[in-house]
Amino acid sequence: MRAFVFDAYRKPLHEADVPEPTVGDHDVLVQVAAAGLNHLDAKIREGEFRLILPYEAPLTLGHDLAGTVIEVGGSVRSLKPGDAVFARPRDHRIGTFAERISVAESDVALAPTSISTVEAASLPLVALTAWQALVERGNVQPGQKVLIHAGAGGVGTIAIQLAKHLGAHVATTASSSNAEFLRELGADVVVDHRTQDFEEELSGYDLVLDSLGGENLPKSLRVLRPGGLAIGIQGPPTPAFAKAAGLNPVVRLAIAGLSRKVRAQAKRLGVRYEFLFMRADGDQLREIAALVDAGAIRPVVGATHPFAETAAALDSLGKTRIRGKAVVSLP
Ligand SMILES: NC(=O)c1ccc[n+]([C@@H]2O[C@H](COP(=O)([O-])OP(=O)(O)OC[C@H]3O[C@@H](n4cnc5c(N)ncnc54)[C@H](OP(=O)(O)O)[C@@H]3O)[C@@H](O)[C@H]2O)c1
Repeated sequence: MRAFVFDAYRKPLHEADVPEPTVGDHDVLVQVAAAGLNHLDAKIREGEFRLILPYEAPLTLGHDLAGTVIEVGGSVRSLKPGDAVFARPRDHRIGTFAERISVAESDVALAPTSISTVEAASLPLVALTAWQALVERGNVQPGQKVLIHAGAGGVGTIAIQLAKHLGAHVATTASSSNAEFLRELGADVVVDHRTQDFEEELSGYDLVLDSLGGENLPKSLRVLRPGGLAIGIQGPPTPAFAKAAGLNPVVRLAIAGLSRKVRAQAKRLGVRYEFLFMRADGDQLREIAALVDAGAIRPVVGATHPFAETAAALDSLGKTRIRGKAVVSLP
């Protein structure tokens, strides 16, 4: 079958003919109709995640899918051939830039019925990230103040809507050209990151979702109320993450070093910092699908590319300015 693979770290992604997936007892075989593009795909190809996610090349990339179940394993009970589904397959079982993929049943959910297949494929990774940050870790409550950085991005567009749905007062950072659009999505305050310093505009926040990292993170700590929580998804990773991920002691030590400064800053300010690396979760996807069909969350797809152009589309991620997600559509 057709798939997009890379043969060695830092080598280009290219189309290849790869073997058909095998379907285990607890797996479903999905005919992929559309696949969302994520920075994680590019970062894995670049070798940036080698310590945390040691993949062997050649590897088929792709972390998001929407498609149709065409076969189920002997123990699968919740899905059947013909079901329209969406998923973020778990780490070490990725590969949605392909005609077909075998996915663990527990990573898959029925796709929302009110949106297109391309829109469904844009959601899993970013919506699970938003859910795990705001619901699971942040436990956001009505009336709380939440800052979502990079509101116009893939994670940001969904996180703003989810935070609003949870009843939060939502601030975001974006270019002024995106301000009106983000207010329509639910942002109460939009800070123009090109002309304003968000640290001067905002204070007393309960939670910040930081997808930018670098200097943005210490600045984010300073807009929190005492005891408030900054969740970083761009890094740096923390010892708590390294422990939970079961990484070896040497890697854990290296990771502790990466986040030492920001953890010390958080401690001094009386606030908290946590690193989140999202994970696959079919149950959470079911909750997300329900919110989409209830009209609380709408996907934002800024670009759709033909499958044959997957490699170029991944290369253009972050270079061409779009709102929300880029998705490839299969024939
Ligand atoms: N740890 C995890 O589990 C996890 C999960 C998902 C994503 N991530 C990471 O999170 C990052 C963001 O992902 P994404 O998919 O949301 O990216 P994206 O869609 O490429 O985000 C691009 C957006 O960033 C905005 N932006 C750029 N510089 C900014 C600044 N200084 N202040 C505010 N906004 C700024 C731009 O907004 P304007 O056009 O308005 O300027 C643009 O819309 C990536 O590094 C990704 O790898 C991590």
